[in-house]
Amino acid sequence: MAPVVHNPVMVREVVEALGIRPGGSYIDCTVGEGGHAEAILAAAEQAPRLLGLDLDEDSLATARRRLEKHLDKVTLVRGSYAGLERFAVDNGFMGADGILFDLGFSSAQLDRPARGFSFAGEGPLDMRFDTRQKLTAERLVNTMSERELADLIYKLGEEHRSRRIARAIVAARPLTTTTQLADVVARAAGGHGHGRIHPATRTFQAIRIAVNAELGNIEAGLAQAVQVLAGGGRLVVLSYHSLEDRLVKEFMRRESTGCLCGPSAPPCTCGHTATLRLVSRKVVKPTEEEVRTNPRSRSAKIRVAERTLGATRKKVTERITW
Ligand SMILES: C[S@@+](CC[C@H](N)C(=O)[O-])C[C@H]1O[C@@H](n2cnc3c(N)ncnc32)[C@H](O)[C@@H]1O
Repeated sequence: MAPVVHNPVMVREVVEALGIRPGGSYIDCTVGEGGHAEAILAAAEQAPRLLGLDLDEDSLATARRRLEKHLDKVTLVRGSYAGLERFAVDNGFMGADGILFDLGFSSAQLDRPARGFSFAGEGPLDMRFDTRQKLTAERLVNTMSERELADLIYKLGEEHRSRRIARAIVAARPLTTTTQLADVVARAAGGHGHGRIHPATRTFQAIRIAVNAELGNIEAGLAQAVQVLAGGGRLVVLSYHSLEDRLVKEFMRRESTGCLCGPSAPPCTCGHTATLRLVSRKVVKPTEEEVRTNPRSRSAKIRVAERTLGATRKKVTERITW
């Protein structure tokens, strides 16, 4: 079977939003298989420098092959964007002209049953982006209390049948494969309650987010991106579901606002100043043509902001929670 290659989403729109400058410096926080990175490097006659981060060793190997002809301009690092500031300092990328986050997982990860992200094929309950990490989906599913599981599935999967599902999971333990988990969830959920999606979709999303501490990592990464960008540098974020998008939207709204005290509390006591300017209040969505040819782009949204000139830099500490 031919290996699945990730088809990058809204490449033209991402490159446009980053506003690539010849010889500039860019950080792709989720370089994956290098699709967006390749387009960034090709966007200016004098190729920019690029730092690419990813937790997934296999994806980085593919990116390295794909970006071969630009390797003098490219630094690829296996690490989390939750440590963005440190990677930028260590590799000479402080004051970057643009930073990209393409959130979530890639098609290559989803379509490889051995990675355990999908219920479509049988695989181990794994779901780790970083295979060095101890916590797997199997450990999480088999050790959490029913109450904890129900809360997790409700909050991170936005699944209203979470209590029933958690009860069924606990009764069926131990669970070791993706298809076992999907069957238990489908039986407990009792059919397609949320339209046309598979009944296990939301539970799988919740478990994946928890295993990889995704929401805490996004918060940490975004906060550090503001500190790493040059004045006028662009922050471009591609998200794929409402939890991610809400987080990005709230972050950009807060960081583009001056005083946060509210109208009832003058004079200002918070001392907050805007570090970002929203490039547009509207999100960018894929064209109908792209959705037709790349169904994964269906739910994608791009938000873009620019670091304000003269905003003071703060040291951001790493926060990893979900
Ligand atoms: C949607 S894919 C990116 C695809 C990429 N833009 C391309 O064109 O090939 C998201 C990637 O983010 C990576 N990832 C997830 N969480 C991460 C984190 N905290 N730090 C770094 N990479 C992460 C995943 O391993 C995955 O490769």
